[in-house]
Amino acid sequence: MTEYVTIIGNGKMGRTLASYFEKSGISVQKIGRQVEDILGKIVILGIPYDALEETVALYEDQLDEKILVDISNPLDYQTKTSVLADDQSSSLLLAQKYPHLRLIKAMNTNFSSSRMTAGDHPLVLVAGNDASAKEAFSAVLQAANFQL
Ligand SMILES: NC(=O)c1ccc[n+]([C@@H]2O[C@H](COP(=O)([O-])OP(=O)(O)OC[C@H]3O[C@@H](n4cnc5c(N)ncnc54)[C@H](OP(=O)(O)O)[C@@H]3O)[C@@H](O)[C@H]2O)c1
Repeated sequence: MTEYVTIIGNGKMGRTLASYFEKSGISVQKIGRQVEDILGKIVILGIPYDALEETVALYEDQLDEKILVDISNPLDYQTKTSVLADDQSSSLLLAQKYPHLRLIKAMNTNFSSSRMTAGDHPLVLVAGNDASAKEAFSAVLQAANFQL
């Protein structure tokens, strides 16, 4: 299977996920702060919650046909508490603002320092309303040896 995944954000999660995909022969486009043409059909947002909106806005005109994956935990890392109300989520807010995007929530329960590296087949939870987007993303995850 030859796939192309784009990861925006070269931090702990971005680097860890890239190595998982690359180990399985999946090509990864790694984007940092410089805006680039997106090559992957699947675009993983490996950036902090507070950078999500501005990043989606920057790339909005390139995201129509893409599958966008939000992995963020909207936390205040000083207090370890959510910055959102209990009935809100980062993906819900993105979906409300950009209802046309094919949005998935995944990997926010995978930790770059432990579960992502501890086993060969980390378990990933995949959520979203777009069944075909979930199916396409799940196929790439399975090709990269993740468990669903
Ligand atoms: N760490 C975990 O175990 C873990 C687990 C599950 C989910 N998450 C989620 O994964 C996301 C990334 O976490 P992380 O631990 O990888 O954080 P991190 O190591 O701090 O990396 C964040 C990366 O995002 C980049 N970035 C920030 N704003 C950006 C922007 N506007 N455009 C492009 N890149 C930008 C940073 O670039 P600079 O280096 O230039 O600042 C940095 O490379 C977060 O939403 C977090 O909640 C993390």
